[in-house]
Amino acid sequence: MKAVRKLMKVFITRRIPPEGMKILAAAEGCEVSQWDSDEPVPRSDLLKGVEGAHGLLCLLSDKIDKEVLDAAGPNLKVISTMSVGFDHLVLSEIKKRGIRVGYTPDVLTDATAELTVALLLATSRRLPEGVEEVKSGGWSSWKPLWLCGYGLSGSTVGIVGLGRIGMAIAQRLLPFGVKRLLYSGRTAKSYAAEVNGEFVPLDTLASESDFIVVSCSLTPETQGMCDKAFFRKMKKTSIFINSSRGSCSKPGGSCTEALSSGQIAAAGLDVTTPEPLPTNHPLLTLKNCVVLPHIGSATYSTRGIMSALAAQNLLGGLQGSDMPSELSL
Ligand code: NDP
Ligand code: DGY
Repeated sequence: MKAVRKLMKVFITRRIPPEGMKILAAAEGCEVSQWDSDEPVPRSDLLKGVEGAHGLLCLLSDKIDKEVLDAAGPNLKVISTMSVGFDHLVLSEIKKRGIRVGYTPDVLTDATAELTVALLLATSRRLPEGVEEVKSGGWSSWKPLWLCGYGLSGSTVGIVGLGRIGMAIAQRLLPFGVKRLLYSGRTAKSYAAEVNGEFVPLDTLASESDFIVVSCSLTPETQGMCDKAFFRKMKKTSIFINSSRGSCSKPGGSCTEALSSGQIAAAGLDVTTPEPLPTNHPLLTLKNCVVLPHIGSATYSTRGIMSALAAQNLLGGLQGSDMPSELSL
């Protein structure tokens, strides 16, 4: 990669895997400062850290809005987020200032699809409950009616958002013997033919699927999309999985209510609102809900690659050259 000539100030909002740090350390003319912690940067330190920066490397937990952009000032040329999701970036403000944005699509697709399948199986076959019973002495014998769940074989799976990750999830689920694969989104996808995907309205997907997997991006349109009415349309034996963003579910307990009233069989959530979910949250009292702490992309290798890609995107933006993964604004 070409060296950056002019001294460029970069602010990194968290400790990130070494792969990305090495790339930035090797870039000439880059003065890097960092919130050197595994915990999120407090807002006041973010506002201070970004002052005068030419480049900002951030995470999905950092809201990058007008206040942050104003604090950064006119030097800011590039924002590189170490995530594929970009709902934490206020794009209208960023675009207005001519700032370029880098993100990390593709490199985390396999890891996230794998985790989503793991979560689906853990939820539908009640793995956390089973493990708990073994540990607590609840396992008295092999019992014909005990800890039964739902299988994928012969089932209908509905994918909300057949994008990169949605497609990778579909490809992994089909070999389990899934009979029908439905998907919803803004437009039908030609590549859906590879998984025999049927493009259907969200209502049809909700009422006909045995397993629903939410893997769309969070947008004004998908925000709160899984609301009371959505859960009411689902079958009582169906399983709801969300590995997209927690806010695709309507706040105010629609999912909790659907689970506790027996409107749906179970839910597996890798993402919630808020994150972290408070330990006294009602969802955590429900045996038929499996909650994970947003670990879709958490393999060592994927996080290393995301970190490197975020650094390369940042340098591309600083140099005014190509970024390996630039978001078109
Ligand atoms: P893509 O952009 O490839 O896919 C997003 C999909 O969302 C598109 O197919 C798009 O369909 C769909 N979509 C947009 N609007 C709607 C809508 N109204 N209804 C249904 N679908 C819609 O992104 P990725 O697959 O790479 O990532 C998807 C999301 O997954 C990320 O934005 C992020 O939020 C989340 N994620 C979570 C992770 C985790 O750790 N749990 C890890 C990585 C990502 P269309 O083209 O028709 O608009
Ligand atoms: C993303 O990249 O958007 C995920 O949520 C975390 O990897």
